[in-house]
Amino acid sequence: MQRFLFLQMYIFVCILFRKCLNLYRKIKIMNIAARLKNAGKEYKTGDTTIVALEPTTVEFRTGEITLLVGPSGSGKTTLLSLLGCVIYPTAGDVWVGDTCVSKLSEKKLAKLRLQHIGFVFQGFNLLAPLNALENVMQPLILQGMSQKNAKKQALELIRLFNMEDRKDNLPRNLSGGQQQRIAVARSLITNPQLLLCDEPTASLDQFSAKQVMEMLRDLSRENRAVIIVTHDMRLNKYADRTIYVSEGRISEEPIEDEI
Ligand SMILES: Nc1ncnc2c1ncn2[C@@H]1O[C@H](COP(=O)(O)OP(=O)(O)OP(=O)(O)O)[C@@H](O)[C@H]1O
Ligand SMILES: [Mg+2]
Repeated sequence: MQRFLFLQMYIFVCILFRKCLNLYRKIKIMNIAARLKNAGKEYKTGDTTIVALEPTTVEFRTGEITLLVGPSGSGKTTLLSLLGCVIYPTAGDVWVGDTCVSKLSEKKLAKLRLQHIGFVFQGFNLLAPLNALENVMQPLILQGMSQKNAKKQALELIRLFNMEDRKDNLPRNLSGGQQQRIAVARSLITNPQLLLCDEPTASLDQFSAKQVMEMLRDLSRENRAVIIVTHDMRLNKYADRTIYVSEGRISEEPIEDEI
């Protein structure tokens, strides 16, 4: 009898343990906003091959701000562009949430980008014929929202970035810092789960940089992953994690003679 009870207890504990393990695995996967699995990128120009990023395995979790730092040409934008589904890897796989994006068609990638990813490009990439307000509205219009609602939401965000008085200006009539604020606002308008920023504070003064970073920090706490390429030491205090990039390789430890 005692033996039977012991066996029952043993089976019960085993089942409970397995259930907990499965739950833990699920939560762990849910927390991963994007990952590279042996993903690398090479560029071929003529006879030469440039290894922009060596095969890399790394995960980015929601709720975290990750800084990518490293010297010029080390592969930071390449890593960010792979995560942002802007380029395809030449090796390995890239995952956004639970979708393997490496082999998705251009059309499906564009849809995924529009729904899940916000990207602040190194050179802003604002659309020249559109004014500041229209640039911020644009992702919502592409998602099928009415002009009226898109305008309302874009105006709210533009106000938050203190750009209301410049909303009708074309990008060429805005300063670098103002263009950058509009680019950040545009990347936030769709409430993306994965926010990728290439030097988002490079042209910003102390006040605007603080404002942008506090906003990004709040967003990361709302179950988002925020990944920022930067040379800006002012951002260190906002980072949950720093990844160092050097000659196409990444490391979680600082690389000597770099940065
Ligand atoms: N489209 C391309 N064609 C050929 N080579 C490229 C291309 N894009 C990037 N590279 C090369 O890949 C390497 C990594 O470039 P990447 O833009 O990722 O560097 P980075 O770390 O972002 O540099 P920076 O800090 O100057 O922006 C560089 O040697 C660069 O010249
Ligand atoms: Mg770059």
